Amino acid sequence: MTEDNVELEARLQEQEEFEPPESFVEQANVSDPEIYDEFDENWPECWEGAADLLEWYESYDQVLDDSDEPFYKWFTDGKLNASYNCVDRHIDEGRGDETAIEWVGEPTDEDNRTYTYAELQKEVNEFAAALRAQGVGEDDVVTIYMPMIPESPIAMLACARIGAPHSVVFAGFSADALATRMNAADSEYLVTCDGYYRRGDPLDHLDKANQGLSGVDHDTTTVVVERLRDGDGFDHDLDDDQHSYADLVSDHEGEEVEPVQRDAEDMLFLMYTSGTTGQPKGVKHTTGGYLAWAAWTSQAVLDIKPEDTYFCSADIGWITGHSYIVYGPLTLGTTSLMYEGTPDYPDRDRLWEIVEEYECDQLYTAPTAIRAFMKWGSQYPEKHDLSSLRLLGTVGEPINPRAWKWYYKHIGGEECPVVDTWWQTETGGMMVTTLPGVKKMKPGSAGPALPGVDVRIVDAEGEEVDAGNAGYLTVQKPWPGMLRTLYNNDDRFISEYWQAYSDPDSDNWVYFPEDGAKIDEDGYITVLGRVDDVINVSGHRLGTMEIESAIVGVEGVAEAAVVGGSHDVKGEAVYAYVITEDGYEENDELRSRIVEGVEDAIGPIARPEQVVFTPELPKTRSGKIMRRLLENIANGDELGDTSTLRNPEIVGDIEAKVSDD
Ligand code: WTA
Repeated sequence: MTEDNVELEARLQEQEEFEPPESFVEQANVSDPEIYDEFDENWPECWEGAADLLEWYESYDQVLDDSDEPFYKWFTDGKLNASYNCVDRHIDEGRGDETAIEWVGEPTDEDNRTYTYAELQKEVNEFAAALRAQGVGEDDVVTIYMPMIPESPIAMLACARIGAPHSVVFAGFSADALATRMNAADSEYLVTCDGYYRRGDPLDHLDKANQGLSGVDHDTTTVVVERLRDGDGFDHDLDDDQHSYADLVSDHEGEEVEPVQRDAEDMLFLMYTSGTTGQPKGVKHTTGGYLAWAAWTSQAVLDIKPEDTYFCSADIGWITGHSYIVYGPLTLGTTSLMYEGTPDYPDRDRLWEIVEEYECDQLYTAPTAIRAFMKWGSQYPEKHDLSSLRLLGTVGEPINPRAWKWYYKHIGGEECPVVDTWWQTETGGMMVTTLPGVKKMKPGSAGPALPGVDVRIVDAEGEEVDAGNAGYLTVQKPWPGMLRTLYNNDDRFISEYWQAYSDPDSDNWVYFPEDGAKIDEDGYITVLGRVDDVINVSGHRLGTMEIESAIVGVEGVAEAAVVGGSHDVKGEAVYAYVITEDGYEENDELRSRIVEGVEDAIGPIARPEQVVFTPELPKTRSGKIMRRLLENIANGDELGDTSTLRNPEIVGDIEAKVSDD
């Protein structure tokens, strides 16, 4: 490192606040600081502006209907179609030849695929016609189990076109996870693919999908997209109820399907996410409020303009991919870039190569990726011209100031604002982040709540905490992008999100996302992490209960407790403490069966970092496992008070085992 560089690094490390670059502010979609006051004064009508970003068949009567709290309704009686908004409207506006999706496959010797809005329209129509011909009707849930290939957004938009809600299951999830979600949603249709590429090798995805289907308790119809190139395919015969995507689409060549007029409150999609219990929660999002939220935040925070090439490196199987690869960017008529592979294949500069080649304007990624980039070193981005970038974003977990500054300097060249966006599957889109054309940035803090979003940090009694103190993050007013309920489970919707801080007697409804946070004197919020039994591994939400039940299902395991321990790249990693059954040895063979058990039940993302055998788990006198202690052990932290334990002597033994491994 040169002396200049050393000085620069030192200055950066000390700097706690960054003003948005002037060149950015001058062209920003939102740059008027008055927006915060205006939205407060004009709430909830302030959200008309978000609805105005959409094309409606019929305008709505009321912005917010709060007559049945917390079952809020937004833009009531408005009629629209999400597929029309993401595709056709741009053609009607004369932009049919502009690129909608730029797709980069993992193999470097494969041509990319470009879909103009007109081409996307053709493909979405044909597949919508095919789905209909297979019997998919309005409100039938279609499960999509696919990786980062263009047919994923095409299938989502085809569903939206015919009013069939989709439920996308992350391709990295296991067969069991697919079956659980299809059963929970009573979904009779599956769209999947033959395989995809990982680190250069073809991967057999259909085999996993078929295993999943064997666990589905009702009849199903499957469509199989041919992703793998000739010669890379696996040997599978399709059953009678399984159809080739290519065949179906060619059967419906050139067909047009009139977009179904959906009510604003009709379901657009379901997305399953982990919670405190073993059963994943089916988060229900609607057509009007969700789409308005995805579009408005894409415009105000990601600063997306139609002429941009925007790159979000999330997977479509997560909410970030839904809102910020598909629905938000396409509603705004921009070019959304999708990349199939991993950032380090064939080399650690793959993303930078893509950014350079496609002259990307924005990059939206996760702190776990940024920490990996930082570890690999700045020589990789330095090989490429990244000057097309105008804005950087992060999402999914807290970002530490060091990683933030590395991103700001080495990727953004100190010329791009960084938006650290806090939100969740349930919120539909961003909630807490700086507006990049308005607010200064503070590394490590996501920023203030967005205009019109009422976030308060409270203590256990629900009283707002003073600046500097930690508390619980709450949202005290509804917003259009919010989940409407948990699928088929209104009671759990209330108990999970509203019970903790609401006072129904005085009509005071408070949403609790189960995150801890603190706030500073400028109203900037630092999110500290989950306060429920959910761990955040590389930005992926995993329920400890789900992992524990997978482990207990392994032969030879009597009991298990799973906690998150900090990890320098993944943010958190899975630590499993396991008691063996009598007669089973604590050995590597059992350890690998446990790891396999978790991979089979959930997927490789949930793979335990460490499996620690112990004769007992630390328990309170009432028999509750003291997870806090297990977390402290995983992190090598001070243990604190162990006097309430029934078996305090076990703690030292477990600690010794973790540090040995
Ligand atoms: C965490 C992903 C800190 C948080 C969009 C939240 C964050 C959970 C941030 C939701 C952030 C997300 N800073 N923590 N910028 N963004 N989180 O549903 O704990 O997969 O509750 O949605 O991720 O994860 P989900």
